[in-house]
Amino acid sequence: HWDASSIIEDQVAKIKAQIGNHQVICGLSGGVDSAVAAALVHKAVGDQLTCVFVDHGLLRKGEVEQVRKDFVQATGIRLVAVDASADFLDALAGVSEPERKRKIIGERFIRTFERAARDIVSKAGEQGEEVRFLVQGTLYPDVVESGGGDGAANIKSHHNVGGLPEDLKFELVEPLRTLFKDEVRAIGTELGLPDEIVWRQPFPGPGLGIRIIGAITQERLDLLREADSIAREELSKAGLDRDIWQCPVVLLADVHSVGVQGDERTYGSPIVLRPVSSEDAMTADWSRVPYDVLSAISTRITNECRGINRVALDVTSKPPATIEWE
Ligand code: XMP
Repeated sequence: HWDASSIIEDQVAKIKAQIGNHQVICGLSGGVDSAVAAALVHKAVGDQLTCVFVDHGLLRKGEVEQVRKDFVQATGIRLVAVDASADFLDALAGVSEPERKRKIIGERFIRTFERAARDIVSKAGEQGEEVRFLVQGTLYPDVVESGGGDGAANIKSHHNVGGLPEDLKFELVEPLRTLFKDEVRAIGTELGLPDEIVWRQPFPGPGLGIRIIGAITQERLDLLREADSIAREELSKAGLDRDIWQCPVVLLADVHSVGVQGDERTYGSPIVLRPVSSEDAMTADWSRVPYDVLSAISTRITNECRGINRVALDVTSKPPATIEWE
């Protein structure tokens, strides 16, 4: 029988034994995995932990505040937040090939994280401390999908902070390595994390960057962020949060179709809703969201997001499609 509090006790003991009196850092992504991993490590070694949050400007509405305020309030964790959004947008200008986007975002992320980590390491050094460990929120399915478990092919290049330079090598602390998402959520709740973080849908590291099909611009990001926020709000209101594994909202930025709004002919981009049900993201089925909920989302998005004149629903399972469009 599976029990969150005994897993916590177990992991806390293991983390203490691994880290000892050393300093440890953790990169927060805004997602549930890194948040729960950090909270676990904080429970084990308290102030020896410093978290780094790189804001790449590709998060959804409200998520930056959730990390910078709510998470810090709930845990008391020391947080170093870096706003690197302008830098990321610059590096991504004109890029539309998905794997190239991932590579740029991943590399920028590591370089930004590296700078913050260097600062923390040297500050600790001044006080005679050594930062020797790095926390990662790796889950069991991540281990399997990246080929660490059963050798399954790595289909999309997920980014993590694995590319740090030699002089900044840390030993990894991965307290969630044997767990599935639902178990991680149970642990997060038991640790007192806010529901908005614990029940956050899985969200890819490259964020909204891989949900704009085409090149990424500030304007497109703002448009997608608003549409995504509306979809999330309506799905929540309908009580569907816990039935849906995740619902990517995708902007087909380079597609233009004709519409009519008021008396005017419009030429706008479509938004695709991609609600899926899944156990671990390795396979998925499209969610049968009630028509009236879809209708409410569609009406609001087309009314409130200038430039979007169509809302489409993706009814493909995985396989053959993937969950994300890129
Ligand atoms: P796909 O699209 O491959 O997605 O069916 C499976 C799960 O992985 C997430 N995903 C990513 N996560 N970096 C990440 O951290 C990525 O580049 C990435 N691509 C997809 C996706 O949201 C889904 O949960």
